Amino acid sequence: MSEQQSGDARSAARPEFHPRKNGAYQSVSEELSAWMRTGWADTERRDLDPCEQAPYAAKRRAVLSARFPGERLIIPSGRLKTRSNDTEYPFRAACDYVYLTGDTSEGGVLVLEPRAGHGHEALAYLTPRSSRSNGEFWLSGHGELWSGRRDSLEEAAQLLSVHTRDVRELSDWLRQAPRIPTRVVRGHDAGVEAVLAELREDAETAAQADAQLAVTLHDQRLIKDEWEIGQLREAVAATVRGFHDVVRALPEAVATSERYVEGTFFRRARVDGNDVGYGTIAAAGPNATTLHWQRNDGPIRPGELLLLDAGVETSTLYTADVTRTLPISGRFTADQRRVYELVYAAQEAGIAAVAPGNPVRAYHEASQRVLAEGLVEWGLLEGPVERVLELGLQRRYTLHGTGHMLGLDVHDCAEARTDNYRDGYLAAGMALTVEPGLYFQPDDLTVPEELRGIGVRIEDDVVVTPEGNIVLSADLPRTADDVERWMAELLP
Ligand code: GLY
Ligand code: MN
Ligand code: MN
Repeated sequence: MSEQQSGDARSAARPEFHPRKNGAYQSVSEELSAWMRTGWADTERRDLDPCEQAPYAAKRRAVLSARFPGERLIIPSGRLKTRSNDTEYPFRAACDYVYLTGDTSEGGVLVLEPRAGHGHEALAYLTPRSSRSNGEFWLSGHGELWSGRRDSLEEAAQLLSVHTRDVRELSDWLRQAPRIPTRVVRGHDAGVEAVLAELREDAETAAQADAQLAVTLHDQRLIKDEWEIGQLREAVAATVRGFHDVVRALPEAVATSERYVEGTFFRRARVDGNDVGYGTIAAAGPNATTLHWQRNDGPIRPGELLLLDAGVETSTLYTADVTRTLPISGRFTADQRRVYELVYAAQEAGIAAVAPGNPVRAYHEASQRVLAEGLVEWGLLEGPVERVLELGLQRRYTLHGTGHMLGLDVHDCAEARTDNYRDGYLAAGMALTVEPGLYFQPDDLTVPEELRGIGVRIEDDVVVTPEGNIVLSADLPRTADDVERWMAELLP
């Protein structure tokens, strides 16, 4: 259905509201217009409790506030993006905004305004409810009649425990507000950035200041609070259910394509969460050797492997990131098992190296060593192993790093300082993946023929604890034997 279909072109009336995005007017009679203004119940919700995340978001804002005394900090949620013509991509709020507010609505902007004494006041500029008195409610494509009821500003203030204002006043407010050092998280709201470009004189200094804000936020997000860990647990639990769904659906998938696997997992993501946290990789047979295989349009053949890399994103936008490589018929062949067990051994070594105080790189190096040793033993690489590792020769078959931080983004905290992340040390509260793999391209003549076209990755989500680590996805079978047992239970 398009907006235009609701207009009554035969009405004798004059245009009452602004043109639509595509320039077509919608005409309404005065009688209809007057009638649409009246007869609506008061649905305002009063005395709402703050959302569960509100006290955690307040603490996160306090930590950020202490880093930038006296400065105005602007963190937008983002805007809808056009997909084609008048259709838009599903909205997904920007992570830093969600982290600092707990809000996931579109078009919001958090302003942390420095207080006279110390600290900051949090002002959430939000899209208010649609007015029923000027046609906005039912004639505008973004009116509530079309896109659903929003929280009123008063409701949002109670739910988020912050002051709220109408986002349509933000540009004027920024222009009139005292000129003080201001930073914005870029890339989400071109309108806000344009206003700031008018107000900030030195573009280069502004760019540096903004980059510093982004880095600081990603540094801060490296350590998850207990509420975030709880959300990751929920994301992983839903993901585990999604993998069960996929195994049960394998017979139908064999009759159709990888899309059936993708769709089966997606249903779980939509029912138990918000969405998938990234494009599902449902890669059967040799497609598993393509790291970001997301076309998912290949066949599922008995006897081959299915590499499924998928994660449910919770309604609060935390995501899991889990991979299992499954024998489609339920049993590994000897060659598949050989590859699988080497990857499993590498993952075990990686997980064992996840502990507070260890270099972040340690678990990658532990996994790579096991893989390199195996590849030398199999004669694919010429030893000694130290030489292989020094030259990185194993990477022809291991291809990618052994993991990354996990949280609101699947590749979380990507802008954190190198010293705190890639060259840093693990600390309790970090959440990350451990995901070694081996990939033998179908046309790789350096590989024995029987291994060509085999791709295996095993990926689990791990939280660093004061004692060591917890594997959040431990409920999903991991050894070759356990995978076969699990599949035998679920397959008809
Ligand atoms: N699913 C993307 C990754 O494993 O990093
Ligand atoms: Mn991953
Ligand atoms: Mn993954």
